[in-house]
Amino acid sequence: MSSRALFTLFCLAANLSAQSSATLTIRTTEPGPKVQRQIFGQFAEHLGFGIYGGIWVGEDSKIPNTRGYRNDVLNALKRIHVPVVRWPGGCFADEYNWREGVGPRSKRPVKINTHWGGVTEPNSFGTHEFMDFAELLGAEAYVSGNVGNGSPREMAEWVEYLTSPAGSLADERKANGRPNPWQLPFFGLGNELWGCGGNMRAEYAADVTRRYSTFIKPPKGVKVMKMASGPTDSDYHWTEVMMRDASRHFDGIGLHYYTLPGNWKVKGPAYGFDETAWAKTLAATLRLDDYLTRHSAIMDKYDPPKRLWLGVDEWGSWYDPEPGSNPGFLQQQNTLRDALIAALNINLFVKHAARVKMANIAQMINVLQAMIFTRDDRMVLTPTYHVFDMFQGFMDSTSLPHTLQSPWYSKDQFVLPALSASTVQDASGKILTGLANTDPNRPLPLTISLNGRTPKSLSGSILSASAMDARNTFEQPSALAPAPFTGGKIEAGSIRLTLPPKSVVVLTIE
Ligand code: AHR
Repeated sequence: MSSRALFTLFCLAANLSAQSSATLTIRTTEPGPKVQRQIFGQFAEHLGFGIYGGIWVGEDSKIPNTRGYRNDVLNALKRIHVPVVRWPGGCFADEYNWREGVGPRSKRPVKINTHWGGVTEPNSFGTHEFMDFAELLGAEAYVSGNVGNGSPREMAEWVEYLTSPAGSLADERKANGRPNPWQLPFFGLGNELWGCGGNMRAEYAADVTRRYSTFIKPPKGVKVMKMASGPTDSDYHWTEVMMRDASRHFDGIGLHYYTLPGNWKVKGPAYGFDETAWAKTLAATLRLDDYLTRHSAIMDKYDPPKRLWLGVDEWGSWYDPEPGSNPGFLQQQNTLRDALIAALNINLFVKHAARVKMANIAQMINVLQAMIFTRDDRMVLTPTYHVFDMFQGFMDSTSLPHTLQSPWYSKDQFVLPALSASTVQDASGKILTGLANTDPNRPLPLTISLNGRTPKSLSGSILSASAMDARNTFEQPSALAPAPFTGGKIEAGSIRLTLPPKSVVVLTIE
C-alpha cells in the first residue's frame, strides 16, 4: 500500500473513531419491497417445556386453559399477533410419525423423545391440537414434514389428512373432530437434512427433496407453499446445489442461523457475562447480514424474479443451559442482550426484505431465545417478547431505503456499528424506524432526516436497562418492559434524539 493510501486510511479510521453521533436519512419517496408479516414468525418444537407445560396443559389442568391451551400464554401471544408458527420441529420433526398424534389421546402411543432429553413424549399434542392452536392464535400453520426417517407416502397422507375435503383420510379427520380441512399455508420438506434430518450431502438432499415434493398434492385450488430444508450459516454450497437441482420443486428454502457467544461445546452463559461477551455476541448476530447477502445472490442466479422465499426458519441465541435444568431441554435466560439480538435480526430481515419473506424465532416458549417462560401457573414475558411487541407495526409494511452513518462500538477485537436501523412505511403512511444502540456504555445522539417529507409528530417506545443482563424472572416478571420514548424532538425539519446505551427504540413518525 502506498504511503498516500495509508494516510487516507488513517484519516478515515481517525474520523470514524472520533465520530460520536449518527445520522439516518430515510428516502421516503423510494418504496422498497414489502416487509412480510411472516418475518415475525415463531417456532414451537416438542422440546423440553416448549409444548407440554408451555402451550399445552390439557383440559383437566388446574392452570386456566381453553380446551387444554394455557390462557395466559394464548392471550400474550394474541397480543403480538403471531403471524405463523412452525411445528413440530426441528430435529423432533425428523422422526415424527403424525399418525401417533391423532385419534383419542388415551390411545396414542407414548414414545421416547430421542433428541431432546430422552424423556417420554405422550403424543397428546398432535395434529389437531397444533392446527387448532394456530387457529386460536390467528396464525398460519407451518408444518414440518418428516423426510428424515419417514416415507413419502406418510408425508403425502399427512398433507391429505390436513387439506382434503373428501376421502377416507378426510373421514378419519372428521371422526377425530374436524369436519373441514385446515388451511396449510406452509409445509416443510424436512428439517436440517444436512444434520439431524439424515446427514445428507447437498446433492443427495436435492434429489430427496424432489422426490418427497412430488407427492405433496393438495386439492385443486389449495395453495401449500413447500419449504425446502436449507443451509446453515455460510453453507453456500448447499444453497447452490438445492437451487440448481431442486428449486423447481419448492417455493421457499429455510436458512438456520444461531447466535452463540462461544462455540458449540462451550456456548457461554445467558447472564452474568462481561462486556467482551456482549460485543462478541452482537458481532456474531451481525454475521447474518453477509450470509443473507450471499445466499440471496445464489438464489437470484437461479430465480431472478424472486419467486422463492428465503425463510430464516430457525434463528436466535443459544447459550449454555440454565444451571440445574435438563441440558436436553435447552432452557436459558433471556436478557437485554437478547432484546438487542432480536432487534438486530429484525433489522436485517427488513434490510433483506426482497428475498427474506419469513423467519421463525427459536423458540416460542421456554426453549432457547424464548418469547415466554412458564413455570406451573406463572408466566414471564421476556425482553425478546417485548421487542416483537414494539415492532408490530412493521408487519406487512413497505421497506424504505436509508443512508446511515454511525460511530463504531468496539470492545477488544469486536467492532460493530453502534447504530442498527430499519425503516418502513405502514399502510396508513406513517414511517416507522427500529433502532438499536449496541454500545453498552455511551449514549448515541442521532439525527433523522426524511428525504421528501417533513416530520410533524413523533412517538415511540424504548427497552433499556442499566445492566447488560437485565432480565425478567418469576420473582420480578416486569423488571424489563418497554416504556414510552420521550427523548426525541423535531427541530428544523429533522428529528433529533439520543439513544441511551444498550437500548432498542421503535419510533413512529407522522
Ligand atoms: O431449535 C433447536 C434445534 O436446533 C432444532 O431442533 C434443530 O433444527 C436445530 O439444530
